[in-house]
Amino acid sequence: MTGPFQADSRYPTFRVALHWGVVALIVTQWLTSGAIHRTHGTLLPPSAIDLLLHAAHNYSGMTIGLLVGIRVLLRLFKPIPSAQLQPAILRRLSAAVHWGIYASLLAQASTGFVAAYLWGGAGRVHVFLWNVTLTLTAIHVAAALFHAVRRDGVLSRMLPAFSGFRFGQSRAPTRARPLTRI
Ligand code: HEM
Ligand code: HEM
Repeated sequence: MTGPFQADSRYPTFRVALHWGVVALIVTQWLTSGAIHRTHGTLLPPSAIDLLLHAAHNYSGMTIGLLVGIRVLLRLFKPIPSAQLQPAILRRLSAAVHWGIYASLLAQASTGFVAAYLWGGAGRVHVFLWNVTLTLTAIHVAAALFHAVRRDGVLSRMLPAFSGFRFGQSRAPTRARPLTRI
């Protein structure tokens, strides 16, 4: 360990890249989703750009499904030390929100696929799940900002090492505590 920050408590670079890559793809989903209604919802033929955005939504959504699947496998089989949040109930809450986000994103990718290629009725569930994803993400981001203000080192765990940001000291446990046990 060098300096006040314990670098070993950071998420590994690959997982940081997965986290922020999926965030970027979710923003893409939001930006492209309007084109789907313009493609199917009017009597006019869809524009080339809307068709492109619709295709981008489908492929970006499938990529989210794949990347979240990898994250779930990593979390189950290669757990890393969880942040030492106090009181302990915060650790359970944080894990519950993370698992909720995985479940919601996987379900959204699946229902989107079904709606696009197999049965349009699944679109209703897909749209409903978007609200679930948004709610859980809002809680998650509020928690991240709370940690940034508290400067307890939690936010720095998910920032790229090269960014140079340090939001306080990170309290890493001496022994790996599986993130999956809540
Ligand atoms: C986790 C990944 C995904 C997210 C976050 C996402 C997000 C969204 C959002 C925000 C909407 C618009 C909801 C509204 O009208 O208020 C939407 C609609 C739609 N998406 Fe996705 N999507 C994802 C994956 C997919 C995939 C993989 C496909 C297809 C392969 C897909 C196909 C569709 C379709 C067909 C609609 C229109 C549904 C309807 O209104 O009946 N989505 N999506
Ligand atoms: C669409 C937006 C987001 C989603 C879906 C999301 C999802 C997740 C998930 C599922 C985890 C668990 C670890 C993992 O699987 O890699 C996580 C961890 C984390 N996220 Fe996010 N996140 C989002 C946005 C943000 C933002 C905007 C911030 C910061 C401002 C942030 C900060 C963090 C931090 C610090 C952790 C690590 C927490 C810990 O130490 O256990 N996330 N995120």
